[in-house]
Amino acid sequence: TERSAFVVVANRLPVDEVAAEGGREWRRSPGGLVTALHPVLAAHQGTWVGWAGGTDAAPGPFDVDGIHLHPVPLSGDELEKYYEGQSNATIWPLYHDAVEPPMYKRSWRDAYRRVNARFADAAAEVAADGATVWVQDYQLQLVPAMLRERRPDLRIGFFLHIPFPSIELFMQMPQRVEILRGLLGADLVGFQQRLAAQNFIRLARHLLGLRYVGQTVEVDDRRVKAGAFPISIDTAEMERMGADPEVQARAKQIRKELGDPKTVILGVDRLDYTKGIEQRLKAFRELLAEDFLSVPDAVMVQVATPSRERVEHYQTLRVKVEREVGRINGEYARVGVPAVHYLHQSYSRAELAALYRAADVMMVTPLRDGMNLVAKEYVAARGDLGGALVLSEFAGAASELKQAFLCNPHDPDGVKDALRRAVTVDQVEARRRMRIMQRHLRSHNVERWANTFLTELRGEA
Ligand code: UDP
Ligand code: G6P
Repeated sequence: TERSAFVVVANRLPVDEVAAEGGREWRRSPGGLVTALHPVLAAHQGTWVGWAGGTDAAPGPFDVDGIHLHPVPLSGDELEKYYEGQSNATIWPLYHDAVEPPMYKRSWRDAYRRVNARFADAAAEVAADGATVWVQDYQLQLVPAMLRERRPDLRIGFFLHIPFPSIELFMQMPQRVEILRGLLGADLVGFQQRLAAQNFIRLARHLLGLRYVGQTVEVDDRRVKAGAFPISIDTAEMERMGADPEVQARAKQIRKELGDPKTVILGVDRLDYTKGIEQRLKAFRELLAEDFLSVPDAVMVQVATPSRERVEHYQTLRVKVEREVGRINGEYARVGVPAVHYLHQSYSRAELAALYRAADVMMVTPLRDGMNLVAKEYVAARGDLGGALVLSEFAGAASELKQAFLCNPHDPDGVKDALRRAVTVDQVEARRRMRIMQRHLRSHNVERWANTFLTELRGEA
């Protein structure tokens, strides 16, 4: 194997293997982690260690867009226990404030440990002497300590893309000491928000009795630093896509296909219970019931990309969302004019850019979200300064996009009020808000995010 001075370790590779006629096919992997890290890796000439999707024998190393990919295999049993179980039915709900009850199972923890060790082995194999290894997200929280044991010469960073919970919630986890020790194997642990970094530092004292000074925890004879590094997008790329004549033509066509309504309301999410999709639909339904909005003047488009479909919470959510969409259409649609266009499909970035350009109001209403890149993409795509963003206070993005119409998604009247204000905002005010947010995203892009983290990790700050 070729060894690399810069290694990223993430559960997923940027491409996902999908079964196709006569063999396999590669598709871009879902989610914000891949959106953010892809441009970073393409710029850094690094190696990306991760799972290629599927449970057949993993392919050997290969290159995509100038990035070296090093696949790690998962068996069917591990997919069920490590990925669907411990990662997505225990840790994901717990870290998102337990908006669905987390499930705890011994066999899931064992699989999580086993798979984390495999990722640590792979990283140890591809990292050159003294290399920088950057471990990503909640699926791999044991990797930093496991990797340090194997390779004490490395600089090890960890970044958590999702929220880090309060001490009280974290303390529920049977695996709590192991996970905390796993994270403390890193030299630098990064979070989306300052509060998350604080939770982590206080937890180290509470659970392990460790001393800390400022943002630095003392572990044995080492120092582990924690900090907030809010992630972002490749702003220039999204600006270019929004400005692309083909994208704009497609946006026009989308509006036409929707019946040239006055108001297009858009939601784009993985079909996940943290995203507040039901809350958003309910706000739309009630504004229709009150005759504040009416079909066909106003329509809603909801892209709900399939995600983690074998996990029970996700199956129940799908039923609930589809029932609500059916209810709204049953009551308010007309022949040939649905009130909600519900799309349980995955879209290309270009098609999403066209949807962003076609939408008068973008609704991003998660109950809890580490960052939410869709909100940032919408703003960056609107070089025309059109459109308005409704944004949940519980998304990390709300700390930066303060000119959005902010709302508390747990309060139905709050969501309705924000939607009402976004629909009726005058153009001058809407453009002013958009301009300020765009300026912020131009300087706070993903390149800056990666550089800030890596500079701090390498002790150059
Ligand atoms: N996305 C996509 N196709 C889709 C739906 C979403 O490419 O059909 C992308 C979207 O553009 C964004 C990412 O997936 O870059 C979602 O990131 P976000 O942080 O909003 O949420 P996550 O899915 O990571 O929870
Ligand atoms: C979020 C997580 C990522 C994950 C992505 C897609 O962005 O933070 O780690 O890759 O969702 O979810 P999936 O389970 O399909 O990888």
